[in-house]
Amino acid sequence: MKKILFGLAVLAALGLQATASDKIKTNMDSMRNGLQSIQDGFSYNNKDQILGGIATIRKANEMFHDTKSAAKYLPNDKQKFAKVSFLSSYSLKTNLDQMEEYVKINKIVDASDSIAGVVHSCTRCHAIVRGW
Ligand code: HEC
Repeated sequence: MKKILFGLAVLAALGLQATASDKIKTNMDSMRNGLQSIQDGFSYNNKDQILGGIATIRKANEMFHDTKSAAKYLPNDKQKFAKVSFLSSYSLKTNLDQMEEYVKINKIVDASDSIAGVVHSCTRCHAIVRGW
């Protein structure tokens, strides 16, 4: 019985791990695609594409809705950076909000300036997980 329980616990742990890394992979692919759409929207003069890219990233970013959820995707030795990780996702959100507002009021150059903040937020979080 004990062995079976242990086996089940190991399977459950492996299952959880697979789910966490699948979720990261799927959502990060979305982040990448959203960023690409935004850049194409600026290049090809397509505001809907910019807005669509913003929505895609915003949705993917929801996985880091608080410090606890951000901590889930950090390696054990980086747990002390959970708050910084959450804050980088929060600044990603506010930079997207800013870009969206500028697009809506037709200030496209100002909207494009927000890209720096978006990429900075992506990089801030990646720096933690990747040890940059
Ligand atoms: C709050 C943390 C966080 C933020 C913000 C974040 N990422 Fe990630 N990202 C991760 C983690 C964790 C991984 C997985 C570990 C790794 O690849 O280093 C990852 C990996 C990736 C990968 C590689 C995926 C793969 O399959 O190898 C891409 C692409 C990516 N992110 C794009 C982005 C983009 C674009 C943004 C911003 C629009 C962004 N990420 C913002 C945490 C974050």
